[in-house]
Amino acid sequence: MPMSIRQVGPCFAAEVDGIDLTQPLPAQDIAAIHAGMDRFAVLIFHDQNFSDEQQLAFTQSLGSIELAIGTSLRRPDEYRLPPTFADVSNLDRDHKPFGRDDRRRLFAIGNRLWHSDSSFKAVPAKYSLLHARSIPSKGGNTEFADMRAAYDALDQETKDLIEPLICQHSQMFSRAKLGFGDFTAEERERFKPVLQRLVRVHPSSGRKSLYLSSHAGSIVGWPEPEAKALLLDLTEAATQREFVYSHKWRVGDLVMWDNRATMHRARPFPHDEPRDVRRTTLMGDGPTVAQQAT
Ligand SMILES: [Fe+2]
Repeated sequence: MPMSIRQVGPCFAAEVDGIDLTQPLPAQDIAAIHAGMDRFAVLIFHDQNFSDEQQLAFTQSLGSIELAIGTSLRRPDEYRLPPTFADVSNLDRDHKPFGRDDRRRLFAIGNRLWHSDSSFKAVPAKYSLLHARSIPSKGGNTEFADMRAAYDALDQETKDLIEPLICQHSQMFSRAKLGFGDFTAEERERFKPVLQRLVRVHPSSGRKSLYLSSHAGSIVGWPEPEAKALLLDLTEAATQREFVYSHKWRVGDLVMWDNRATMHRARPFPHDEPRDVRRTTLMGDGPTVAQQAT
């Protein structure tokens, strides 16, 4: 059966059938996947029984990989997966769910807020590829919002207002929204803010999108409450249900999204059940705005 791409739900998510991602792919399939990403921004592949090595090989066939080092509260000696993977599971090194009050779990609850992966890095992520190895008995959906449609729906006055704006992004800003702020001096240094523009132009499609993320905590040159209020208003508008696709996971699903054109968030699930999802990430082309010297 040849590969086919079929739209599901809103206009930015599609299911891909007739392809086995565990095997090396011909150049025309790679090109079709990139074209599908440019058109839809979220692609869903069911029944992909990846090993870590196969997931990594598929990811690297699409571009350069982004390493996940120092982006969580797991210490290097606590990693369950190699740094080519972002371990967004709720599992410790022994594959056991974190205790309810575990600081690493509480930090990771930040993923339940709308965000774009690695917007807290000077060079933010391109695609994220999340593979489900085990899922909880209920909950744990991932929701996606189309930031191109959200931008298009803004009135012209708002588009003109936000066009030149630059935001500061940090994982400390997103965690502060949940009342999590007990960072060590080393963590505060590691999580210090970076700059991102608020309106991005997609390099392939040419479409503009809102580059929002719960990691965005301030706007350069704006009073803080006014900046936070604008970001909340924009996020509320951008995540109306008409712009959202909610993915209910099956074991073996690989969902791939373009962080330049979408936001996403995890939904709650029973804290004592394993949710083993493994993310590989493609590195972006460069910063969205020149960074201050560090
Ligand atoms: Fe994420």
